[in-house]
Amino acid sequence: KAVMNRRTLIGAGAALGAGATLPTWTWAASESIAGVGGVGIPPWEVWDDLADPVISAVIERGETAQVNTLLRQWTQNGMDLPAGLPADLRDFMEEARKLPDWVEMDKLQWAVDFNKRRGIYLGVAYGFVSGMMSSAIPHEARAVYYSKGGADMKDRISKTAKLGYDIGSERAFHSPHGEMIVTCVKTRMAHAGVRHLLPQLPYWSHIADEVGGIPISQRDILVTWHSLPTSVMRSFRKWGVRMPARDRDAFLHSWQVAAHLLGVRDEYIPASWEAAEAQAQQILDPFMGPTEEGKKLAKILVNLASEVDGGYISRPLLESLTRTFLGPKISGWLGTPRHPWQDELLAAAWPIFVGVHEGTLWVAPRFAKQFWNFFAEILRQGALWYLGEGKRLYIEIPDMNNPN
Ligand code: HEM
Repeated sequence: KAVMNRRTLIGAGAALGAGATLPTWTWAASESIAGVGGVGIPPWEVWDDLADPVISAVIERGETAQVNTLLRQWTQNGMDLPAGLPADLRDFMEEARKLPDWVEMDKLQWAVDFNKRRGIYLGVAYGFVSGMMSSAIPHEARAVYYSKGGADMKDRISKTAKLGYDIGSERAFHSPHGEMIVTCVKTRMAHAGVRHLLPQLPYWSHIADEVGGIPISQRDILVTWHSLPTSVMRSFRKWGVRMPARDRDAFLHSWQVAAHLLGVRDEYIPASWEAAEAQAQQILDPFMGPTEEGKKLAKILVNLASEVDGGYISRPLLESLTRTFLGPKISGWLGTPRHPWQDELLAAAWPIFVGVHEGTLWVAPRFAKQFWNFFAEILRQGALWYLGEGKRLYIEIPDMNNPN
């Protein structure tokens, strides 16, 4: 394994040319689940050595549609791969579906329990924090906007939400009837397809600032990863949600396994929450910001329910929820308009909701119950608007960029 020392690292940075706005990578690989020594290759110079050549070949051979159709039958962890897949793809998938040797089944089982107990907080955090935040991550917003999925955001959001949902579901990774291994491997393949296709878009070279113009580096995946579990942890802490060590460890572990199955190298996967926090401070926080694409995506997201109610109630409500949970700075980047009174009301209601639920705030029981039901209904409705109608979703290898 190539391990870079500080000097070769600086050399590699210089080779990228002046003006490249790359951070320095000082996160120690000893803090990773691989636990290897030194500081590794910066993750913005690494993509997916196993998936990329295979998926490129599938697309170039014109087999995408046929492969996607075959893979619709492959839905559960324990299923054999369908017959008729190209040999190179089959070999890759057999390898990619293996759980890492560091997997701990009891932690995964506990994670399911945690997800059940904390479902409402998790729904709020995944939907209104992670989901909206993705529009304020420039690399992700641009990749999503210009790829095929950008043309149907409702479908895309439902699929990404499915990953968040599957991870907490009863049998997720650790049962033949779970779906999480399938979801992750298919997502890994979709990402490889995007790496192949996006650089072919002429406009992409004008906006891309990734090394070589190739999107979805390991750094990008880690950034999005931090927008999910790390941001959930930060939110829980901020909200005052109790989280015993066993819950914390199990929740982290389920996301470590997900990262591995999404193709992240073990030397980048944080081994602890402290390591995750340190990594997030290096690669997530400094790289969030506004983009035109992100603003357009955020607008699509808050309009998701408009077909149901014309947007009269849902849009301003989703905007206020965004402001409550992401705060003024990020909401500003997303161009989310203010709604005086409603913003303040929701922002004031949330700590009460949490406080009553956590037993840290006393409210007359009758009032507490009404308040809980009312607010839970708003949140449930909001999440439903994002999650769609629960129709069967297929994650596929894209065969083109956003045609619009
Ligand atoms: C596709 C999840 C990281 C960009 C998908 C899909 C899922 C997903 C479930 C399939 C949805 C679909 O078929 O539309 C995740 C997770 C990530 C992650 C859990 C990290 C933990 C990233 C990053 C980027 C990205 C870092 C960009 C920088 C895309 C794009 C698609 C996609 C462009 C394809 C949409 C299409 O079909 O054209 N991702 N993703 N993802 N993802 Fe990710």
